[in-house]
Formats: sequence, C-alpha cells, structure tokens
Amino acid sequence: SITRRSYHEKVLDHYSRPRNVGSMQKNDVDVGTGLVGAPACGDVMKLQIRVDPKSNTISDVKFKTFGCGSAIASSSYLTELVRGMTLEEAGRIKNTEIAQELCLPPVKLHCSMLAEDAIKSAISNYYSKNPHAKPTNLAGT
Ligand code: FES
Ligand code: FES
Repeated sequence: SITRRSYHEKVLDHYSRPRNVGSMQKNDVDVGTGLVGAPACGDVMKLQIRVDPKSNTISDVKFKTFGCGSAIASSSYLTELVRGMTLEEAGRIKNTEIAQELCLPPVKLHCSMLAEDAIKSAISNYYSKNPHAKPTNLAGT
C-alpha cells in the first residue's frame, strides 16, 4: 500500500543518508552529550548538542547510533528537528512525534524512544556543565 511504501521511503531515506553523523569534543563546555541504550535490544545512541549560551538554543547537533535502521532514522530525523530549538523546546519532544513522522510500526517504537532519551540526556549533561543555564522552575507562575 501507499502508506507502507511511504513508511519505507522516510525510514530508508534517513537510514541510507543519515544527517549530522559525527562527534563533538565532549569536554567543550558548550557541548552536551547523551549516551543511552535500549534494554530491549542493546542498541546504543550517542547524541551531542552544541548550545548557543546567549539564546539557549541548539546551534549544532551530531549523532552516532549503533543500532537498527529505525534507530538510525530516528536519530537522524531528531537532529534535523532540534537544530535551532531552545533547550526547553527540545526537551519536550516525544518519541511518538518521531515515530509518527517516520511511520514506525509499534514493534519499532522503542527505537524512537532511544532518540527521545538521547536528547533528554544530552540536555541534562549540558545543564550539569552549565548550571546557571538551567531555567528556574516556573510552575505556578
Ligand atoms: Fe521498512 Fe525497515 S525500513 S522494514
Ligand atoms: Fe532496538 Fe531498534 S533500537 S530494534
């Protein structure tokens, strides 16, 4: 069916031409590194963000994924999505958005979860290096 074909096209496009593959110096103070694994299959994803401290936005992003095609496609798509976002915006991304865009089947949902975990982990690593950048809790205001 058409749906099935477009699923393959989007996943295969990101899988065969992954965007933003690479690494950054993890010791740079403006770089946040997330390294996460999927317990279900043992696949591993490393995602790194470079943050512009003035605007608190993601100016660059790189990933390396040792995993299945859906995990590679999820991380590739995620890198395109988060570039230019504020850390707050990027931290709110849900794996279901990624799965929906790539039309992942239910059995592949955990592959997109890896991407959500990776960006959250990269953001929290950045905040641990730059505690002053962490937004104060605005709950109730
Ligand atoms: Fe179709 Fe993986 S891209 S099954
Ligand atoms: Fe485990 Fe895709 S990340 S099968």
